[in-house]
Amino acid sequence: MKITAAVVRAKGQPFRIEEVELDAPREHEILVRIVAAGMCHTDLVARDQLYPVPFPLVCGHEGAGIVEQVGTAVTKVRPGDPVVLTYLSCGTCFNCLRGHPMYCYRLFDLNFGGKRADGSLTMRQNGAGVHGAFFGQSSFATHALASERNVVRVRSDVPLELLGPLGCGVQTGAGSVMNGLRPEAGSSIAIFGAGAVGLSAVLAARAVGCTPIIAVDPKPERLALARELGATHTINPNEVDPVAEIRRLTDGGALYSLEMAGIPQVLRQAVDCLVPTGVCGLVGAAPVGVEASLDMTNLLLGRTVRGLVEGESIPDIFIPRLIELYLEGRFPFDRLIRPYPFAEINAAAADSEQGRTIKPVLRL
Ligand SMILES: NC(=O)c1ccc[n+]([C@@H]2O[C@H](COP(=O)([O-])OP(=O)(O)OC[C@H]3O[C@@H](n4cnc5c(N)ncnc54)[C@H](O)[C@@H]3O)[C@@H](O)[C@H]2O)c1
Ligand SMILES: [Zn+2]
Ligand SMILES: [Zn+2]
Repeated sequence: MKITAAVVRAKGQPFRIEEVELDAPREHEILVRIVAAGMCHTDLVARDQLYPVPFPLVCGHEGAGIVEQVGTAVTKVRPGDPVVLTYLSCGTCFNCLRGHPMYCYRLFDLNFGGKRADGSLTMRQNGAGVHGAFFGQSSFATHALASERNVVRVRSDVPLELLGPLGCGVQTGAGSVMNGLRPEAGSSIAIFGAGAVGLSAVLAARAVGCTPIIAVDPKPERLALARELGATHTINPNEVDPVAEIRRLTDGGALYSLEMAGIPQVLRQAVDCLVPTGVCGLVGAAPVGVEASLDMTNLLLGRTVRGLVEGESIPDIFIPRLIELYLEGRFPFDRLIRPYPFAEINAAAADSEQGRTIKPVLRL
């Protein structure tokens, strides 16, 4: 079928809204009419080829929409169901079988490879192939092909315009706290980076009763929003040394920290600010191959650093749970969102990069 999609032709090029031919759903596939799609930092990482992705490519991995058609083997959803699309995993590797699909052995090729799991393309244009299947969806488009492993059925009484970001950025931030670190109520936490991911972590830290909640970011407007959303303290690293200040505020060091900026020196700070036995979650994504240095003695003293992908979320369980918390007023993630018409996708990307918008959502 003919769809309209935002195509990136080559590394660092702007998104171009073009007509593309999308395959009909195969046996295990689900065709979703996209209502809205969030934009995540990772879409821009792909556009700029900081991860090895193929071009031309259709990005978008926070789609929300209505199921339009399903393949013959699909039983999970039916046409008309509201769904949120999320990351893809294979379902058969060791980690998928152990209940850790976010650490699927095929995570990179299924989410960044631009092809189906069997290597085939989902999109074409004038006879030439276009790479789709980004995060098993490519939702910067009027329609996306997903599968049972990455569609989450959601309640129909919440606007789909809000829900796309739950599929990546918001579940990553909230889940890093609620599924990854699992702090007890009353635990101290320092969150480095107050973008969509970091602020979602602030919301979750508030929801589970952390205190103090310390947000670190060089952008004053983001720190102001962090305070409104539940941060008890904020630190601008251009003004004070965050490590010394966190140690002072927590009487010796934070029990938990999260690196949500993707910067090696920030990872160092997020480890150095911990109390001995404290745990740092690494969430920010640096370009492949970037290294960070850590003080070995600091690690020796019982400190832990661990990576966290997609907030260690089992999306079918966690996304509906976040929606319930939102409806109860305990997780106001809608405060992060700013809608844009699809045609303004490049303005949305620029606003996000310059810090004017926390979480752009494109309306299809
Ligand atoms: N691990 C995962 O599964 C996963 C999933 C989604 C996104 N990510 C990554 O998480 C990171 C955050 O994503 P986002 O969408 O919130 O991006 P974002 O760009 O909106 O937020 C990053 C924030 O870091 C801040 N920052 C810059 N320098 C800093 C410093 N020295 N100290 C503290 N903060 C600093 C920026 O001002 C910005 O507010 C990105 O690297 C993204 O690629 C990881
Ligand atoms: Zn797997
Ligand atoms: Zn993402």
